[in-house]
Amino acid sequence: GKPIIPYEEIGAETLSQLVDAFYAHVAAHPKLQPIFPNDLSETARKQKQFLTQYLGGPNLYSEEHGHPRLRARHNPFAITPTRAQAWLECMSEAMDEVGLNGMFRETLYNRLVLTAHHMVNESDSEE
Ligand code: HEM
Repeated sequence: GKPIIPYEEIGAETLSQLVDAFYAHVAAHPKLQPIFPNDLSETARKQKQFLTQYLGGPNLYSEEHGHPRLRARHNPFAITPTRAQAWLECMSEAMDEVGLNGMFRETLYNRLVLTAHHMVNESDSEE
């Protein structure tokens, strides 16, 4: 049958809403807000591009910014286990708000758990 591309399943509109809902939580999170810029519009634009290709859609992020090298791009920021957990909580709340559920949500969330843990570059004691 027709291969299922996660990007096609979620759709550009819901993906965009997910990212906007996510950064609204990030902006309000005491553990995350200090390491993010005040204006999150450019961050959100890049995250929409990134998640589009992460979910099998067009390579929008790489076309504009080159290879993601995501862990290296996070090196300037102290990504502690606590912040990884906070990031995932913001994403989980955003998923609730845009109505993601079932296997799609489970699968995407579990992938993001692995990616978030991969970004950790500092222990909590150094925070
Ligand atoms: C950029 C924090 C996990 C994707 C950033 C920035 C920060 C940050 C502070 C810079 C924002 C800016 O200056 O615009 C974190 C923290 C994480 C985390 C605390 C916790 C583990 C992730 C994960 C993904 C991701 C799991 C992918 C699924 C991105 C992307 C950018 C970014 C695509 C933009 C990179 C660029 O400048 O081109 N993140 N991040 N991050 N993050 Fe994360």
